[in-house]
This record gives sequence, C-alpha cells and structure tokens, in this order.
Amino acid sequence: MKREDQISQLKELINQLEDGTTVDAGGIIKVPAETYTCEDRFKQEWDVFFKNHAQIIGASADLPEPGSFFTLNDFGIPILATRDEEGNFRAFANICSHRASIVEKERKGSKERFSCPFHGWTYSNKGNLIGYPKSGQFGEIDKSCYGLTPLPSKEKHGLLWVHPDKDGEINVEELLGKELDELFSTWYFDQLIHAKDDEYFTDMNWKLAIDTFGETYHFSVLHKNSLFESFHGNVGLQNSFDRNGMLTLCKRDIDNMKKEPEENWHIVRGALPVYYLFPNIILLVFDFGMILLREYPVDDSPNKSVSKISFYVWPGVLETVSIEDIRSEIGVGFADVIKEEDYVAAADSHKSLMSGAIDFLTFGRNEPMLHHYHNTYREALGLVPLEKLNSVKS
Ligand SMILES: [Fe+2]
Repeated sequence: MKREDQISQLKELINQLEDGTTVDAGGIIKVPAETYTCEDRFKQEWDVFFKNHAQIIGASADLPEPGSFFTLNDFGIPILATRDEEGNFRAFANICSHRASIVEKERKGSKERFSCPFHGWTYSNKGNLIGYPKSGQFGEIDKSCYGLTPLPSKEKHGLLWVHPDKDGEINVEELLGKELDELFSTWYFDQLIHAKDDEYFTDMNWKLAIDTFGETYHFSVLHKNSLFESFHGNVGLQNSFDRNGMLTLCKRDIDNMKKEPEENWHIVRGALPVYYLFPNIILLVFDFGMILLREYPVDDSPNKSVSKISFYVWPGVLETVSIEDIRSEIGVGFADVIKEEDYVAAADSHKSLMSGAIDFLTFGRNEPMLHHYHNTYREALGLVPLEKLNSVKS
C-alpha cells in the first residue's frame, strides 16, 4: 500500500477512535434467508461463482521452485498446479487422458514426473505424456494428443489464478479492478514464504464464513476475551474496488503508534487490511505475513462449507525465528478465534435460518463491507440490489 494511503487510513482510524465514530453505509439492509439456505440459489451460485469463474487457488509461495506442485479439488474439477523448469506456473486437469483416473494423489511436493496410479501413464510438469507402459501391446497413439488437459492459469502479485473451464479466460486486471491491481503491486506478496495449511469444515453456508470477516461490530461481544484484547471493536474503514473490497481493522497498537513520529507508522502496525476478493476469497495482511482463505461449499450443499486456509510469512521473519517454530505456532490463535468463536456463531445462524423462524438477516450502517459484498453477489446473479433503509420496523 502506498505510504500516503497508509498514513491517511491510519489517521482516519485515529479520528474514529477519538471522535467515537465508525464507518457508515448510510442505511440498513435486510438479506433474505434464502441467500444462505435455498437449494436452487445454491445451484446458480455453483454455476456462476465456481464452475465458470476464475479461481484464486493459492500463492506463488505454494510453488516455491521449479518442480514444485500441489493438487486440489474444491470446485468441481481436480487440479494439478505445477512450476516448470523455466519457473512458469501451469495448471492442468488432474485427470489421466487414458482412463480419466486422478493422476497425482499427493497434496503437494516436488516432482518432475506424474505417474497415473491406474496404468502408469506418465506426464511431465508441462503436461506432456512422456510414456505409457507396454506401448507395443497397448497400441500406437499420438502422444501429443494425450497430454494432461491444460487449464487457463495466471500468476500475478504473488497469487495464482486458474479457470476451471479449459476454454475460460483470466484477466487479472479485470478481476481485481485497476485500482486494486495497482494496490496489490505494492504489497510484494510474491516474496512470501509458505508456512502452513489448514482447513475448517463447518455446517453452514459458505457465505456465512465470508460474512464473519466483514465487520468489527461483534469484537467486543463474541471476542471479548480474545481478539478484542488486541483490536478495537466497531472501528474500521471500508473501500470498494469494483467487485472486491478492503476492510481495514484497527489494532490497539495504534494507541501507542500514534504518539510516535509518522515515519514510524505502518499500516500493518496499527491496522489489519482484510481484502474481499470476489467471490470467495478473504486475504488478510499482517506484519508477519499473509493469510489466504478460500471458501467453498461442500457436498453440493448450501448447508456445508470448508475454509481452506494458507499461512505465509515475510522472509524477514525467518531472520529471528525458524520456519519449524513458525509452523508449530502459526494459525493456532487464528483457529481459536475463527474456528472456535466466529464459525460456531455462524453455524448457529445457519441452523436458525434453516428453521424458517426468521426471514432475513440485517446488516447495519456500521457494516458497509457486508453491504458491498451482498449487493455485488446479487448483481452477479442478476438479482435486484438490496435497498438501503433508514430504519427497519419489521
Ligand atoms: Fe469475528
């Protein structure tokens, strides 16, 4: 983030704290319960946001060197992501061209060749079919027609995008929007080092996971004995970048930082930028690194979801702490708050919505990130935007 933007954001947060104000969306919105529970809506979401939408699948640090690979199967197509000898990121359907078996079963690692466990057909990390056993007896094939199916892939700003449709297109500048595309170039996410992966399965709609990151109104209540000790509640900033957004949370460290000269200020010292990357990504930037959350429905259901979470650290962190120590520590406090507090509350909300007892959730004037996300979501599905109300009676 540019220096002048950091300072102005920090000053705005300090003003809010001193004046007792917060962000104001200018009205209240009511989000219908069907947003989270309707089976037909879920099918529409799956089609628009997962099957036919470019997906962020990780960070450059997940493929740290030539020969690195990882696999995933979160949005309807098994994927093999590789970094070839020239350092290029590539993505393929992780499907053998022979009998459609899954080629690579391991989650991640380093390999030059991928051999299908069914009959041993073997591929390079560029997706070429290198060979197949007993070729004379199997019969002659044109190996150039039997490579792994390549998927559109792009690497930019230290993030990895894949399109699940082999004929799909990825335009990162368009996906991020011009302003966020420029802003992301200032973070240097490409320098991050991967530390750890985790996953939280929860009985709730995937968007309830996203909603939990969208406001700080709940900090002093749900997190009164945890996060609230290090963050101010009901204070924050919200910026929209086309379909995406940034919520800036306010750390209590800002109370001391503001007494120091401005040259000592830094956005990640006094604040926590939380990026909403449409439709299913939350990206948090910390002084120690970055956390990337990918939210997916599970079991073709609007009622189950998983958060796939990756933790990365800045190289400078490793000057004082070993990566082994980081791996044993990182993510523990995050899970204590997100999995044990936020997602427990969100799973309760989901169960309650399923009961049919209430017809809508309400997002206040102090929760503009949730207004932006849900109206963007509705626009993407061709639904009318939610009306901003000055007061809600029923
Ligand atoms: Fe929370």
